[in-house]
Amino acid sequence: MQRNPGPDSPIGIFDSGVGGLTVVRAVREALPHERIIYFGDTARVPYGPKSQVTIRRYAEDDTWVLMRHQPKMVIVACNTVSALALDVVAHCADPLPVEGVLEAGAALAVERTRNRRIGVIGTQATVCSNAYPSAINRLDQGVEVFSRACPLLVPLAEEGMVEHEATRLIAKEYLLPLVDEGIDTLVLGCTHYPILRSVIEETVGSAVAIIDSAEAVAMRAAEKLGRTGMLSGRRETAPPHLMVSDLPQKFGSLYRIFMDSEMPDVELVEASAS
Ligand code: DGL
Repeated sequence: MQRNPGPDSPIGIFDSGVGGLTVVRAVREALPHERIIYFGDTARVPYGPKSQVTIRRYAEDDTWVLMRHQPKMVIVACNTVSALALDVVAHCADPLPVEGVLEAGAALAVERTRNRRIGVIGTQATVCSNAYPSAINRLDQGVEVFSRACPLLVPLAEEGMVEHEATRLIAKEYLLPLVDEGIDTLVLGCTHYPILRSVIEETVGSAVAIIDSAEAVAMRAAEKLGRTGMLSGRRETAPPHLMVSDLPQKFGSLYRIFMDSEMPDVELVEASAS
């Protein structure tokens, strides 16, 4: 496999499903001239309720799908993989730079909090891994972290139930206990959650700052590519090259809703280590 990417090579991004599109959107905003290849492992979503062994195997497969396209950087647009398998991705992608959403989200939360009480919501696997509290406390030991797994939010996002009453009800159930803890900052520790951002904001109220790890990782990627002279010199913008492991049509429709753009071509690929 060729491993000599240049500035005009694409940025590879992956997630279990549509959640990573929130990262694609943020990267496109930060770096409009970059080519993006995106893989959503829609055949195996959700990752959050699965074991560490399984998530690590999926992470390896996902990275190989991107590596076939010779990217210059890999962005793990999945907090679950960032929490449990970032080393697997780094190993497969070596020597390419790898950015995970988790460290970026944790750093931004520490920067924003005023009362040092941070709420974190994520998948079961992310919350059980304790990766967010560890990352936050590595930056500031005095911060108190209140975590909550929100497993029902991923299927609601995958179904596009963005403004639905059921989403409001479930958001209240998950989020109000965190508000009662007096948090002033809430980390959306799963890339599917920004899709439901308006309901989440409405539930926690305007006194709580929302941290979108997608925006945070896009800023980091831009900074790293700039620092290493790997920013694209292109002037045109192109739609991302989208790949999924199942149901490309459904993915295309969700893409149109979330990205507010034309329905793109979506390629069906097999996710397996090569
Ligand atoms: N969007 C992913 C995350 O950030 C995974 C959600 C899932 O597949 O359970 O954790």
